[in-house]
Amino acid sequence: MLNFEFKNPTKIIFGKGEIKKIATEIPKDAKVLMVYGSGSIKKNGIYSQVKKTLAEFDFLEFGGIPANPEYSVLLDALDIIKKENINFILAVGGGSVIDGVKFLSSAALYEGNEPWDILTKSIRTYKGIPFGTVLTLPATGSEMNSSSVISRKETKQKLGMGGPGLFPVFSILDPEVVRSIPQRQIANGITDAFTHVLEQYMTYPIGALLQDRFAESIMQTLIEIAPKIISDPSDYNMASEFMWCCTMALNGLIQKGVPGDWAVHAMGHELTALYGIDHARTLAIIAPRHYEYNIGSKKEKLAQYAERIWAIKSGDTLEKANAAIEKTEKFFNSLAIKTRLSEYTDDYTDTGKFVEEAFIKRGLNGIGEHRSLTPADARKIIEMSY
Ligand code: NZQ
Ligand code: ZN
Repeated sequence: MLNFEFKNPTKIIFGKGEIKKIATEIPKDAKVLMVYGSGSIKKNGIYSQVKKTLAEFDFLEFGGIPANPEYSVLLDALDIIKKENINFILAVGGGSVIDGVKFLSSAALYEGNEPWDILTKSIRTYKGIPFGTVLTLPATGSEMNSSSVISRKETKQKLGMGGPGLFPVFSILDPEVVRSIPQRQIANGITDAFTHVLEQYMTYPIGALLQDRFAESIMQTLIEIAPKIISDPSDYNMASEFMWCCTMALNGLIQKGVPGDWAVHAMGHELTALYGIDHARTLAIIAPRHYEYNIGSKKEKLAQYAERIWAIKSGDTLEKANAAIEKTEKFFNSLAIKTRLSEYTDDYTDTGKFVEEAFIKRGLNGIGEHRSLTPADARKIIEMSY
């Protein structure tokens, strides 16, 4: 196992009816900004539950954070935070709202002129305005990690930021919120969480037995519950498993002591920036081709995954590895997720070239667990995904 340090300060409050605990977690004298998305919380009752709980606080609200949180919209919220001396933010939403709030938390204390620099110059955040979350969509793990991804339409960019100052103080995980999530978003959540595990697992063996089994148990659970939660999102037990899997897939635990790949996400973000394809779907487009392209260096872990997750017992290492890639793609397809770029857009012929150029421009010269995948390799993988 590699050396590691692990600290995750986010308090998780999990279960039915727990949204009301917001009132005991936010400091009583705080001036709060409640931030939410495009309005789903007004239809499913979460908005009224949160407002009722916030009644005793001095608070304002800001709605309208779009999926793939948009920089220009966030700047409007930032204005309010500064003008109104907000000192606590409450995110009520999925990954987009939570990521948007992480940006606000950081930008509110940032002393430079242009908050976009936090993203382009990879400025880590050691201190931000404190914030809590009420998770409405299991998928990203943002409720228990310190990363955020922000989009800017104007420049066709989608960039990450983070730092130890960006963990939520608390996150409320009430699986009852799952009942109103459309099938498409549930499929996205399963695919995103599954790929988060793959990014931290599908590298090379280093003998981290427990870490491998943590990762495998999350993938097995997601495969087991996927058809059930998709057919009945009001099944509380399945919703609980789904929610906790998504959080555990990206709260830092399974990444400790092992190499990480994250090339699938790096390429996937470019597809969202170019075409607006849902985050999870970009991962399903890239992952199978990425594993095929890199089968030489990933075959041992692919074969272990084949045996333990998909019960593939016959064949040599390479055959098992190939069979596992096929199973993974079929799993995504079973969630009604398409795995070819041409199934999402007609305008794909230059995508590989565009991503190659974007990576060169950003100095992203070596990605993946060996930092050896070049922009030219990314181009080839994307071209294989057409
Ligand atoms: O806008 P609202 O009204 O909230 O509606 C949302 C949105 O339309 C809706 N929704 C959320 N909860 C619902 C609901 N609809 C009905 N009932 C509910 N209970 O679902 C739609 C999608 O929401 P969004 O927050 O965009 O989805 P997700 O949680 O998948 O977040 C995606 C964003 O997170 C980033 C992605 O890149 C993308 O920008 N990621 C963040 C990560 C992190 N911070 O660690 C890691 C991930 O890899 C990912 O990159
Ligand atoms: Zn993801």
